[in-house]
Parts: sequence; structure tokens; C-alpha cells
Amino acid sequence: MKALPIGVFDSGMGGLSVLREMKKLMPQEDYIYYGDSKHIPYGKKTKEALTDICIEIGDYLIKRGVKAIVIACNTATSTVIDTFRNRYTIPIIGIEPALKPAIEQYTDGKIVVLATEVTLKEEKFKNLMDQYTSQAEIVKIPGPKLVSIVESGLTEGKEAEEAIKEVFEHMDRHEISSIVLGCTHYPFLNTAIKKVLGDNITLIDGGFGTALHLKDILSQKGLLKDESENGHIEIINSSNDKRKIDLSYKLLLQDTQDKSMAFSLK
Ligand code: SIN
Repeated sequence: MKALPIGVFDSGMGGLSVLREMKKLMPQEDYIYYGDSKHIPYGKKTKEALTDICIEIGDYLIKRGVKAIVIACNTATSTVIDTFRNRYTIPIIGIEPALKPAIEQYTDGKIVVLATEVTLKEEKFKNLMDQYTSQAEIVKIPGPKLVSIVESGLTEGKEAEEAIKEVFEHMDRHEISSIVLGCTHYPFLNTAIKKVLGDNITLIDGGFGTALHLKDILSQKGLLKDESENGHIEIINSSNDKRKIDLSYKLLLQDTQDKSMAFSLK
């Protein structure tokens, strides 16, 4: 069981921002990454449609023989995590907007949660937000356009910056305490966000926390591979566009100082 790969999926490229944290923390593990670019954006699907799509991916990963599944997408997590936990017996790890660390660092101003409309209106997020509303002013902002910017690989430059300006046009930058990136696509826009809002803006995402949580669960269950081993990454994409695979590898290596990453790709 230990030797089996870890399955990771997202509506497209976004989950790669979580995968790179997992790879840094557990380089010995093998990963199968399923980018579902054919069905993007998840943030605009009905709950029923999204559940069917995600179950198909979950069943595929189970057939491939994975030892755990990471739902590396906030929208999919808020919609299907309970269904997955009822349907599969292996560990299922999800991701949610990293509000807790934002609150821990909070002094004053507003905490912005940037996510898809589905994530922001799901019960799961409401429950999360209820825990913290008395401690800080939390503002929810949907950023659907930013997902397609990342999917087209335009993570830096005019188009990304214009889209970010549009998202924040009704906010005074000086009021913002931090921005919680509640969609796994957004960390690929960190440089562009800082260019628009200033270098000292605090950006918080849930990638590292999710990787840490996965490591804990695998360790508790005796499922972690030996650290002396060398893991590899296999990337699959549901779209017929072969450029999606090249872009996935490019994004996985974006902003990384970790040279070993480049050599461990399958
Ligand atoms: C999307 O497909 O709309 C993005 C989903 C997400 O990462 O929350």
C-alpha cells in the first residue's frame, strides 16, 4: 500500500500549486495529477453536475490504485468531500480557504477572501467564516476571470494585471490586511497581484497546510514511503489540447528554486 501513488485532482492547472507543496514536503512520493481542463470552470457548475464529474475522476484514480486522494480545488472540496469520504475507503484530503492563518497574523484592516462564487456560497465556507467573523472584518470577493487567465498560461503581464485591477477596483489597497487565495489557481498570480497591489501585500494560500495535513494522515496510517526513495509525477489532462500538459509542467516549475523537481517529472 505504501508504494502506491497519491492521486490529486483539480478543474485544471490550479491544483498544481498544491502539488508543488506536496512534492517539496514529500519528494519520495509518486503522484498522479489529473487536471480536468475539459470541465473548467467548476465554479460555474451546479452541485449535481460537479458531483457527477468529480465522482468520475475519483473512480478513475481509484482504478489507477492510489493510496489517497487530494481534492486540490476549493470548489470541488466544498461540493464533494463528504460524498468522496462515503464512497471511498482511502484517505480523502480537501482544501479550504486559509482563513485561520490570516486571523493569526491579523492586526487591523480587512481580510479579503478571493474564491469562486460556489466556494463562497457553500455551507462549508459559511461555517468556516462563522468561526472568525467576530475577530476580523472579512470581505468575500469572487475572482472567476482569474481562473481562465491561469489556464491560458498568462500568469504575468498586462492581461493578468488588468484582471486583478478589475477584481479589486472597489477596494482601497490600504484597507487590506491580507488576501486569502481561496482558489488553487490564484497562487500562480502572486507576482502579478503584488505588482498591482504592492510588494508588501500579504498573500495566504492553503497549499502548504494541505500538504502538511496529507503528510500527517499518511504518517498516522503508516502509508508514507521511505525518504530515501525518489518519487515521480505523472500529469494527465482531460482536455484534448496537448499544450495543457506542457503548461502544467511549466506551472509546476514556476517560482520554484527546487531544481530536483525538474528531474523527477515523468
Ligand atoms: C474553477 O474551476 O472554477 C476553479 C475552482 C477552484 O479552484 O476553486
